[in-house]
Amino acid sequence: DPEPIRRIGLENVVVADTELSHIDGEKPELLYRGVDAQELAEKSSYEETAYLLWNGGFPTRDELDSFRGELDDRRSLSHGVAEIVEHAPEDAVPMDVLRSAVSATSVYGDGDGTTRDRSLSVLAKAPTALAAFGRARDGYEAVEPREDLDTAANFLYMLNGEEPDERHAEILDTALLLHADHGLNASTFTGRVIASTESDVVSAVTGAIGALKGPLHGGANQDVMEMLLDIEDSQKDVSSYLAGMLEDGERVPGFGHRVYEAFDPRAEVFKKIAKEVSEKTDGPDWFSMLEEVEAFLREEKRIHEKGISPNVDLYSGTVYYSLGVPVDFFVPMFAIGRSVGWTAQAQEQYDDNRLVRPRAEYVGERGVEYVPIDERE
Ligand code: CMC
Repeated sequence: DPEPIRRIGLENVVVADTELSHIDGEKPELLYRGVDAQELAEKSSYEETAYLLWNGGFPTRDELDSFRGELDDRRSLSHGVAEIVEHAPEDAVPMDVLRSAVSATSVYGDGDGTTRDRSLSVLAKAPTALAAFGRARDGYEAVEPREDLDTAANFLYMLNGEEPDERHAEILDTALLLHADHGLNASTFTGRVIASTESDVVSAVTGAIGALKGPLHGGANQDVMEMLLDIEDSQKDVSSYLAGMLEDGERVPGFGHRVYEAFDPRAEVFKKIAKEVSEKTDGPDWFSMLEEVEAFLREEKRIHEKGISPNVDLYSGTVYYSLGVPVDFFVPMFAIGRSVGWTAQAQEQYDDNRLVRPRAEYVGERGVEYVPIDERE
């Protein structure tokens, strides 16, 4: 046997080929199928980008209409999935509810059960399920999706029961697009590991949602907002609050990335949007607070020496907040966007599969004898 390679955290280890997204950490840039994600954020839509990632080329108008039609046909929840979200305890963690709902889309599948059908169902039903949970926990009836609204507008409509402001829907659409795929991040890798056992795509997405939930991954967008709300409540100034966090050895959410060195191109787009929404929204000036956070950390030796810069989660939270999305729905929003990448990467894994099966170095004891239960101390 060749000598095993030891790389804790799998940093810089290549385990798959992909044509889906490329992150150049030095430039830095993010490409979806070779197209700059920042350009797509400006010119394209979430659904068009989903088509691009799934199919490898831009759709014609007819192709996009038909793709949208396939999503529209699947947006409503089957009875079983609706029961799960509407009967979830009102204090349930939304990511747990979303994970359960997505998992149940295959239990109560209403299509032909192919990978494509199940993937479409995940994309179409996840926003409906999350919105229905949001309404149920506030004591309201679920709102049925509308055929004339796209994924982002439909989500805001189903959550609030009224047609959203056009710009708000556009902003949410861009946010979903910016999260659509991102190389082999922890959740996507989780999904690919599951797909590599030849398990089904819904299992892959369900596992990926579990991985995204953690604070080192998707959980950071909610943590950023909670940090800002805490700073506001404590009436401390931003720098002494952050100095205290670093003193206590805490990580500042929204900063740092395994691949990006100088900045995260998604954060740049979110920063512009965060500025726009903050200028139009009353109440605390979250954008200026975040700029203070960013400025403080840029000056902070312990941070910039380690090459830590803002990531996608720094500015996305205040954007969702300004759209009226509840704070504990921020990570599920990330999950809804990333479902495009999870499903596309699972398909890519199926197309050229080899079981993912790394090894661990055993560092425990050996030769330990079995002690009968009555003789144990
Ligand atoms: N605040 C303070 N210190 C930090 C931070 C941070 N946000 N991020 C990294 N460090 C320090 C870390 O303590 C370590 O210091 P030392 O070498 O003295 O022990 C050093 O930087 C290297 O950290 P690492 O954990 O080895 O780096 P990593 O590549 O494993 O971590 C990360 C990447 C994203 C997990 C990390 O930067 C982090 O925990 N950030 C905060 C959570 C966050 O914002 N996550 C969202 C990531 S982007 C969206 C997504 O992919 O989900």
